[in-house]
Amino acid sequence: MTVTNDIKYVGVNDHAIDLFEGQYDVPNGMAYNSYVIMDEKIAVMDTVDKNFTHEWLDNLANALNGRKPDYLVVQHMEPDHSANIVNFAKNYPDATIVSSSKAFTMMKNFFGQEFEDRRIEVKEGDTLSLGKHTLNFVAAPMVHWPEVIMTYDSCDKVLFSADGFGKFGALDVEEDWACEARRYYFGIVGKYGAQVQAVLKKAAGLDIQIICPLHGPVLSENLGYYLNLYNIWSSYGVESDGIVIAYTSVYGHTKKAVELLAEKLKANGCPKVAVTDLARDDMAEAVEDAFRYGKIVLATTTYNAEIFPFMREFINHLVERGFKNKTVGLIENGSWAPLAAKTMKSMLEGCKNLTFTDTTVKILSALNDESKAQIDALADELCMDYKAQRDETANKNDLTALFKIGYGLYVVTSNDGKRDNGLIVNTISQVTSSPNRVAVCINKDNYSHHVIKQTGIMNVNCLSVEAPFSVFECFGFRSGRNVDKFENEKDSLLRSDNGLVFLSKYINAFMSLKVEQYVDLDTHGMFICTVTEARVLSDKETMTYTYYQSNVKPKPETEGKKGYVCKVCGYVYEGDELPEDFVCPLCKHGAADFEPIS
Ligand code: FEO
Repeated sequence: MTVTNDIKYVGVNDHAIDLFEGQYDVPNGMAYNSYVIMDEKIAVMDTVDKNFTHEWLDNLANALNGRKPDYLVVQHMEPDHSANIVNFAKNYPDATIVSSSKAFTMMKNFFGQEFEDRRIEVKEGDTLSLGKHTLNFVAAPMVHWPEVIMTYDSCDKVLFSADGFGKFGALDVEEDWACEARRYYFGIVGKYGAQVQAVLKKAAGLDIQIICPLHGPVLSENLGYYLNLYNIWSSYGVESDGIVIAYTSVYGHTKKAVELLAEKLKANGCPKVAVTDLARDDMAEAVEDAFRYGKIVLATTTYNAEIFPFMREFINHLVERGFKNKTVGLIENGSWAPLAAKTMKSMLEGCKNLTFTDTTVKILSALNDESKAQIDALADELCMDYKAQRDETANKNDLTALFKIGYGLYVVTSNDGKRDNGLIVNTISQVTSSPNRVAVCINKDNYSHHVIKQTGIMNVNCLSVEAPFSVFECFGFRSGRNVDKFENEKDSLLRSDNGLVFLSKYINAFMSLKVEQYVDLDTHGMFICTVTEARVLSDKETMTYTYYQSNVKPKPETEGKKGYVCKVCGYVYEGDELPEDFVCPLCKHGAADFEPIS
């Protein structure tokens, strides 16, 4: 086979192999690729597996057509590529072996010799001229062993990529590239995403027209497609929309739960549900799917106060390969002491950026109404985005979307001529930068609105994540018309140049603002202001509304109560119906900020 005018394919197909690397099913066999670059000097790129010595040497002799090779470039020392180095050296005694220092050490370990008298040791950035063709060596440690080098031929713009861009399957079988390349990648190279990313960065600086891997086909068209997939895989991104359910089942009850969940996921608009029985299906395929999709459900039984062995093996495969950036749901089954969910979660503890669903399904032997309801809840949770994406299932009037706007939380201070005042505000944003203008929206019911409208000045104190709930109670839940919010600090108040107070703690910055324009927004007034003074007091992060809700606001005491709870301050309204005009007596927010107690 000809790759370019000067580059010939001399590899072999292996259909006799049972398990690649002693563990991977390869129903369509395996290819061990090797190439020859014909120039003034001739370079052979890698050898092949030990079972194909003569076939490979024949292929090589045919391609050489009577000439002798000058170099054998050894990019990778795993035996599927290196097994015939000694045979090559014997057949071509004048040829030089070209490889990395680590590879020569491995040759000594494998063959008892490291070719001291006939070798060239190369490292990142080294080149070897063949005449027209210059080989540029690129270090690719851990893609897939530490000694690996890749080679770029700048004449034909070919990257010899070692195991990179390889796949399972012999070259005389037609099959989809991505499926078997993905299974190969996550099975064999998956742990080394960071190293693959490093090589991709180097590759981005090269003009590559053809990729010649050590397994799988030569890639010469639409290289962006392959590079993009490698980028997604090695950065642990989401390649396809959908959900994987990986399960084990002893007597079929967990399987029933999985089938029910799969049905519900499809009904909820999940574009692809990939179900895998870890005891019976191909483990490498299951691992590949776990990395391919963004969401996974693990379902298993409690077994010997642990989890079923195939699930343990599966999770070990994921953890070993740096599983991350996924949403994970758990289903556990146990007849007397279910422990599976806890065990699975603890096994995944070291994985980065996993989000566990709020719902965990607990099955006590067989499905019942309670566990079926949990499956419904899990399906709803996992399909929230799919439902909202589709016209048919989306709630297009879900005004809780407004809560997703990112807000900071601020104490706005002012002075009515008699005393200092402050209130909590979240509706502040910079609206222009030249000049710097800041818009501040304040409810007209608040005394501060009245004061600022008259005085035309305020200080915006940016709360940091250190601020405790007491700050919100002090400035948020009472009116400055009736109380002096600074009475406890009278002797230690700090003031900016405009004479207004700025907070001595719990803020990371403040700005003094002068009102330029006022916009009447019915319930609120918007002050458009210029900045007259600005100071930064700490590097602590700004308190956001989301942070406040999750970390600062005490959990409302709703246990055993029926009614509505204020999302701002946690006030509980007990009763069947919340009046539309209800105003929270604590924080003064309206009915829209209440939600039913569930
Ligand atoms: Fe194809 Fe890592 O050997």
